[in-house]
Amino acid sequence: MFEKKVSELTADQAAAELEHIAREMAKSDIAYYQQDNPYLTDAEYDSLKRRNAELEARFPQLVRPDSPSKKIGAPLSSGFKKVPHRFPMLSLGDVFSIDEVEDFVLGVKRFLNTAENIVFMAEPKIDGLSFSARYENGLFVQGATRGDGITGEDITENLKTIKELPRHLSGSFPDVLEVRGEVYMKKSDFFALNEKYEAAGKKTFANPRNAAAGSLRQLDPKITAERNLSIFAYTWGEVSQRVWNSQADFFNHLREWGFPTNPLNHLCPDVSEIETNFQHLMEIRASLDYDIDGVVYKVNDIALQERLGFLTRTPRWAVAHKFPAEQAVTTINDIRIQVGRTGALTPVADLEPVNVGGVIVSHATLHNEDEIKRKDIRIGDSVIIQRAGDVIPQVVQVLTDKRPADSKEFVFPDKCPVCGAHAIREEDEAVRRCTGGLTCPAQAKERIIHFVSREGFDIAGLGSSIVEDFYNDGILRSPADIFTLERRNNGDDLFAHLGNSVLHLEQREGWGKKSVENLFKAINAKRTISMPRFIYALGIRQVGAATARLLAKNYGSFAKFMTEMKNKETGPLVAIDGIGESMATDIVEFFQEEHNLNIIDRLLAEVRVEDFIDDSASDSPLSGKTVVFTGTLQNLTRSEAKAAALKLGAKVAGSVSAKTDFVIIGTDAGSKAAKARELGLNILSEEEFSSLIK
Ligand code: IVH
Repeated sequence: MFEKKVSELTADQAAAELEHIAREMAKSDIAYYQQDNPYLTDAEYDSLKRRNAELEARFPQLVRPDSPSKKIGAPLSSGFKKVPHRFPMLSLGDVFSIDEVEDFVLGVKRFLNTAENIVFMAEPKIDGLSFSARYENGLFVQGATRGDGITGEDITENLKTIKELPRHLSGSFPDVLEVRGEVYMKKSDFFALNEKYEAAGKKTFANPRNAAAGSLRQLDPKITAERNLSIFAYTWGEVSQRVWNSQADFFNHLREWGFPTNPLNHLCPDVSEIETNFQHLMEIRASLDYDIDGVVYKVNDIALQERLGFLTRTPRWAVAHKFPAEQAVTTINDIRIQVGRTGALTPVADLEPVNVGGVIVSHATLHNEDEIKRKDIRIGDSVIIQRAGDVIPQVVQVLTDKRPADSKEFVFPDKCPVCGAHAIREEDEAVRRCTGGLTCPAQAKERIIHFVSREGFDIAGLGSSIVEDFYNDGILRSPADIFTLERRNNGDDLFAHLGNSVLHLEQREGWGKKSVENLFKAINAKRTISMPRFIYALGIRQVGAATARLLAKNYGSFAKFMTEMKNKETGPLVAIDGIGESMATDIVEFFQEEHNLNIIDRLLAEVRVEDFIDDSASDSPLSGKTVVFTGTLQNLTRSEAKAAALKLGAKVAGSVSAKTDFVIIGTDAGSKAAKARELGLNILSEEEFSSLIK
């Protein structure tokens, strides 16, 4: 990653590198801690951190005020009450090899000026987020995140939703006790959550750690409660009376009080046991139901810990021994494109299969086209790949000195490789997407699921698993096929594109005469549909229920809407309050694609779209007003609130301007709220809004 050794650098070069590293790491911290969406791999991050430390050791005069070495943990995010830690929540020094562990042990002995053997507690380093839970007279009274180590965020209510955290302590306990540990999400819970989100069309989490972070740092603890979080306790903060004298003894107390402790915590009498234990944990790591990223060693004897004390930000009595990222060298045989649910084109590298830490890896994600450019990845290249936890393997680095003469640059397609439609990339977006919409097979399944979803055609009998089965068996290939199901089942109508055979749905496993009848009934009930639902169901990018309603309201009839869209002009759309340039472009483009028009034609042959009837009260306080919602609402979902406002004749806009009449502000409102205040607009709380719409 770095061209020169630190010893070969001039001060100017070092200063430039330090600046670069500070910038990259700060960017990565924001992505990681605030957006729960990592930007650098752990190995890349660690390697920058090490390089920074090496540079600072050689050029102490160049240490920057914003140096990554001066920071511990996450920058505070807004929205939570702040909690000062009476005892700071520290971080740990990292070591990466058994040699460095030995150096650490020698350092401890030297500091204590002893030749005697020191016993260490070795604890798996849980890859989650640390928490502090304060108990007064055995009652849980406050929970906090680590934050910057000095001040955390008040997550009392969120922690209360975690079943494993005791609300009252059992046994005998000090009057004041702060128990600290790690909140994490089990891998099994992580996969289940992502599956659920994927099905609901929500953004999924990159790994269990981000899922845990995103779940714990919810301003609405109800959301935290829906996500299964777990904990391991491992240390303490303030205590009125310390009745344990070793880390092992502390673990016994933790269990007595009711806290889960990690079953793999293990006392090591010497360095050789430390090494055996490390190897063992590396081997079983993949089989554990939680991610660990190393082993923490703590001097077991608390009296010795107290003598050893602390460096600025880390204890002298503990260290984290990080697992090496599991890496291997292989070649890229090909690069191909996968098309996801929303049409996102993701480049995937086909690799020469290689064993990475016991798992055969033959594909790696390349994320997006910028990533391919940034790392200069070409077909035929030798690359270092890495498998971290359960994350899809990634390409860490190209071995450019091994690049074959016939390596090929990958040209990112501007057409969908599955359906041939244009693949376009929005300004500010990293992702290129297929515009094939309903006719792209890769998108079709999920699109049908969207079509029948609650805010669309709302056909309850067609759940996602049924759609999936019908799609795989060639029974449903597009939303229009839903409305020919009955005729095809009776043999009244046969469709060449679906195989021209009588369906006999009642003979399918899990189906009978009655359930098939019910399904047809549910479908036929939707042969007349409101204009907003119809527009929503088409699955035009960025067009949710509120926008669909806005469009219906502005155009009145679907026929008129279609005609205008075919004019290819975004101007009239942008003139509608609440529709921006990028959304307008998406809408117009949708209607330029021949296959989308085709499907609409086939649908219109089966269903009648009602003209828009404005049932919003014209004398309501919101009639004709433009409202903007910002922040999290407590009692209404965003879509309920929008629907209520639209029903009362309001226009719902996405951004605040002088034309905005009301701004409804939820709990974690940010810049929009500030702007509303600046412009002196009418600001409503959720309660005020609720009473207004009553
Ligand atoms: S002890 C003063 N023990 O690792 C000692 N930390 O890099 C404070 N972690 O902030 C931490 N498992 O989030 C400790 N068994 C364990 C741990 C552990 C995971 C995390 C924790 C801490 C970070 C330090």
